[in-house]
This record gives sequence, C-alpha cells and structure tokens, in this order.
Amino acid sequence: MADADDILERKNFYLDVPQTSNAYALKGSNALDWGMKNRLARIFSPDDCRTVMLAVDHGYFQGPTTGLERLDVTICPLIPYADALMITRGALRSTIPPEITKPVVLRSSGGQSILKELSNERVAVDIEDAVRVNASALAVQVYIGGVHEHESIGNLVEIVNAGNRHGIPTMAVTGVGKELARDAKYLGLATRICAELGANFVKTYYCEKGFAAVAAGCPVPLVIAGGKKLPEMDALRMAYLAVSEGAAGVDMGRNIFQCEAPKAMIQAVRAVVHESETPERAYDLYLSLKSAGEGSELCTAKTQLR
Ligand code: 5RP
Repeated sequence: MADADDILERKNFYLDVPQTSNAYALKGSNALDWGMKNRLARIFSPDDCRTVMLAVDHGYFQGPTTGLERLDVTICPLIPYADALMITRGALRSTIPPEITKPVVLRSSGGQSILKELSNERVAVDIEDAVRVNASALAVQVYIGGVHEHESIGNLVEIVNAGNRHGIPTMAVTGVGKELARDAKYLGLATRICAELGANFVKTYYCEKGFAAVAAGCPVPLVIAGGKKLPEMDALRMAYLAVSEGAAGVDMGRNIFQCEAPKAMIQAVRAVVHESETPERAYDLYLSLKSAGEGSELCTAKTQLR
C-alpha cells in the first residue's frame, strides 16, 4: 500500500506555470464545445487546420458511379492517405472495415436520384445511428436557389440541431442546380447562409474569379469539391488555388478515384494541401508515384487501412 505522507510531499502544482489555455485555431470554431472541437481536430489536421477528405458518397443519388463499383477494392487502399472519409452509412457498414482509424463524415441527407429533381432531399439518418457508426461529422446538401431550397435549409437546421445535441459537427454541401452559375456571387450567398444557420464547415465549389472573397465571407472553414473528372494537372491547380485563396482543403471524389492511379493522385493532392506544393511539383510527384506503381492495388492487409 502506498505511503500517504510520501505522496503528499511529492505533489507539484507548478505554481509558477500558468495553466495552458490555447484558443482552438480552426476558423470560427473556438467557441464550440470540447467534443465538437475534438471531432473537428480529427478531420482538420491540428498542424495546419487543413484536410484532404475523400468523398465516396456519390452512390446515394447516382448509384454505382465509375470508380466506386466496388468500394472494398478501390477505396480501401486510399484510406491511409485521406484525413477523413465522406460516405453513406450503407456503404460504410457494408464495405469499410471497422478497423479504420480515420474519421467518417457521414452523408446524412438523401431521398432523390439522378432521374428526378436533385434538390428534393430529406434528412436520411437518425442522429442515434450517426453516433452508432461513430461519425465525426454529418453532411447535408443545401440547394440555395433550387426548387426545394426551403426544405433543404430545413434539413440543414434539423441536422445541425441534432449534431449540436451530441457534439457532432455538421458539414453543409452546397448543391448547385444546372440552371445556376457557380460564380462567386452565388457561392458567397450559399456558403454564408449555411454558416449562419449553424454549419461547422461547408463544402462548395472553387470559382476562378472571386473565390478569396467567398472564403473570407464564410466564417467557418470551406472545403472544395473536385467536381467532374479533370486532367490531373487541372485538378491539382484547382486545389492549389483554392487553398491559396482561403479554403481549408478539399473533399474530393471523382478527381481522385477516377484517376488512372488514384493512390498517386491522393498523395499529390496531399502535397498541395498540406505542404503547399505547387501544382507543377505535385503533378511531378503524381507521375513519379504512378510510374513507381502506386495504382489501385487491392485492399489486402488491415495495416493498410490506418
Ligand atoms: C454531391 C456530393 C458528392 O456526392 C460528392 O461528395 C462530390 O465529390 P466530387 O465532386 O469531388 O466527386 O457532395 O454534391
């Protein structure tokens, strides 16, 4: 049994050291509760407040998207290179091994298909189920200017409220209808509305003109979608410009998993986002990793998943 007197004598309260009380550095997040910050810190690296999220949720409205026909084969090998995985609960439970240690951003709205009006969504996950799969954030589509704008904003509010009750942050995704221009005026409007209504971070598109103002006008971090598959150099340039102009990273899907060498591409994207590499140098990295065989090897070992 320990000697109580001795323990007392050894106590050290470091009376000359003020208790550490650092502000949480992620944009607009310092007033959040501990659990929210802790989950956000799993997604956005505490070193640079940036993230490379891998988006593989496309099946929720467009079925077996090219590159996602077999998530177990093509996506598992990419997980070690992603900071977070954006995915539906169905795909998560059926194809992703629970041993992964990367945070999950759970697609939480749905209810339409590419055959119908895209903005016609509803909340598609109970908060209890999001907790059950250990989601680090909830993702909800918001269609500003869309046919179902009002309902999609309602979905955002509902998910933010549920997430706040459980300390789970919400990512709003600005869905842009075909009839709307993805320009700075529109993106500035859409991202700001999402943040004002409580989104903790927002996924949006990059625009050539005025993106810096879009990012500055949004009080929470922005991550950019990749959009349709581009030549690799163009996708890297877009990521570079976006982070240079204020984005906190990417939530990229097709421009990674539809590449000839997805594993090489996600590493090149990481170099841009986390090491501020130029698109040219990142493209060289892509080519050299590609020629060294960093393709889309099968998911073979559990250690590959961490
Ligand atoms: C729809 C989505 C996606 O399903 C997906 O995340 C888009 O990623 P990318 O454009 O990079 O393929 O959010 O709006």
